[in-house]
Amino acid sequence: MKALIAIVLTLGLVVGALASTLARADADAQIQALSAQGAEPFNGAAGESFWQRKFSTKNGEKRSCSGCHGIDPTQVGEHQKTAKSIKPMAVRVNPERFSDSAKSDKWFGRNCRWTLGRECTAQEKGDVMTWLNQY
Ligand code: HEC
Repeated sequence: MKALIAIVLTLGLVVGALASTLARADADAQIQALSAQGAEPFNGAAGESFWQRKFSTKNGEKRSCSGCHGIDPTQVGEHQKTAKSIKPMAVRVNPERFSDSAKSDKWFGRNCRWTLGRECTAQEKGDVMTWLNQY
């Protein structure tokens, strides 16, 4: 019985590790695609500070990526307007992140326009994804 439990636990670990490795590979592929358009090599630290940078709207409202997703990407975020919870952004704790490039494109587009009032550059997206993929 003990051996069986050990086998099941080990299998669980292997599957978990595989899922997170595959998730990172997906994110890596998207980072690679962006890097052709980026100005400089992507930098996770720059991604982290971009995440927290506050942008002002015309009426003085402050917006940032962390305003909805939270400062710590391993934690659940809270939507600034609707207060709905948002699953963690860090790939290690949420392997679904960046597993679908259409989804990333859609949300980068929508959230960058809402937060910054413009599209994010390839550099900004690459820095953010590099940071989130380090977790
Ligand atoms: C007004 C709230 C809000 C703000 C501000 C916000 N987001 Fe989001 N973001 C969301 C919601 C809601 C989703 C979709 C729900 C989900 O995927 O859990 C999402 C999803 C995403 C995704 C999809 C990731 C994936 O592939 O699963 C990316 C990328 C993203 N946001 C990046 C950003 C960046 C970069 C910023 C800052 C420029 C930002 N977000 C600011 C609410 C926000």
